[in-house]
Amino acid sequence: MVSEHAAAQVLVASNRGPVTYSLEENGELTAKRGGGGLVSGLSAIGDSEAALWVCAALGDGDREAVRRGVGEPGVRMLDIDARVHADAYNGIANSVLWFVHHMLYQTPLEPAFGPEFRAQWASYETYNRAFAEALAQSAADGAAVLVQDYHLALVPGMLRELRPDLRIGHFSHTPWAPVDYFRMLPDDVAEQLLRGILGADRAAFLTGRWADAFSECCVAILGGTSGTRIGVHGLGADADFLRERSRRDDVEERLAALREQIGGSGAGDRKVIVRVDRTELSKNIVRGLQAYRELLATRPEWRERVVHVAFAYPSRQDLAVYRDYTASVQALADEINSEYGVEGWTPVVLHVKDDFARSLAAYRLADVALVNPIRDGMNLVAKEVPVVSDEGCALVLSREAGAFEELGEDAVVVNPYDVSGTAAALHTALTMPPGERAERTKRLAAAATALPPAQWFLDQLRALGD
Ligand code: G6P
Repeated sequence: MVSEHAAAQVLVASNRGPVTYSLEENGELTAKRGGGGLVSGLSAIGDSEAALWVCAALGDGDREAVRRGVGEPGVRMLDIDARVHADAYNGIANSVLWFVHHMLYQTPLEPAFGPEFRAQWASYETYNRAFAEALAQSAADGAAVLVQDYHLALVPGMLRELRPDLRIGHFSHTPWAPVDYFRMLPDDVAEQLLRGILGADRAAFLTGRWADAFSECCVAILGGTSGTRIGVHGLGADADFLRERSRRDDVEERLAALREQIGGSGAGDRKVIVRVDRTELSKNIVRGLQAYRELLATRPEWRERVVHVAFAYPSRQDLAVYRDYTASVQALADEINSEYGVEGWTPVVLHVKDDFARSLAAYRLADVALVNPIRDGMNLVAKEVPVVSDEGCALVLSREAGAFEELGEDAVVVNPYDVSGTAAALHTALTMPPGERAERTKRLAAAATALPPAQWFLDQLRALGD
């Protein structure tokens, strides 16, 4: 299988790639480069000629770029039929697999696996096959291939058949479902997913908890993990990048604007509870707001003395449940503001437009960070806040976030379903003595940065070689 790409020694495969294109009105394409762990990991290999990132074209701009032959060196975008991609990404990956691993179903009525599901599953197979074939074509003899996430669970098995010479790793960025929950999937589909991942030499996860859940599913459904090695790599925050980025002028500007919105007489007489999330069902933003409302109701001393700064950035808006969820978040924030707000004090400051510099500004000024997901693979916000915080920040953290494994000791830990418990935790965090808060923040920052992105990536590569 020789092709123009056949020289790649290290390959990464993921649905979302490191670059996206948008088509401007004048017909020109503009490229936007993303950040994140994989980007800095892959650049850490150094010899970029030998590295290739295979990803899907996601929007019209990406598809047009593929058609025009526009691209970045080291990136191969696959122009998979738009309907096949939508079925695989929205239908299976985000509406079934994401729901299973995050336990998001309202089970009296869902899931219901019928003909529509079967049609989408066929698309998921087609989409995974397109990746496996592209990787098989582009990989040099004995190359290492790192396949990312639940979108591409079938790729390792398919690729193994096409290219037995390759070293294949799979990494799950999500939690893994407990056996009883995973078994909601039709038996053949459950088996196919596990066998797909077990096609890899090594299957890796963000925490021991998710790795164990995966192994337990393999044992219960297949009788074992059939020789595939299981690994854990707890992705950490990128301290150098965050510290430098969060001190730039644009962040300073946002900081001033936020202080203005928070109000008060200055001099920190108003405390700030910050949350930053995608508007994602698993992030539990609605219960977070309910807890804040309960805090204001049961502890009136906090009225006018605290502001909840909540950033909920749009995500997966093709899915109706996500649009509805976004509307509920907005409605509840409005309700709290009309119930408690007074001249000069807005209890909830909600922003829904993505702005990374503003997120960093909020991290810097937070007295309390609220990270209360129902279930989360890791949650990098919990790791980033302590790194950039100006004066220390108390972390209210869900025990269902992967980050709990590393940060639990110095956080105020909550059961994400317990709204009253979360309200009490917010009070505890708000009243934490400054000295203790600073000490804890230091330890949180150290734990959060133990495995920076580049190291996280290189560790996986090394482990695959062993
Ligand atoms: C989060 C999850 C990843 C997932 C990604 C996809 O970051 O932790 O597991 O791959 O979302 O998001 P997207 O916007 O591409 O659907």
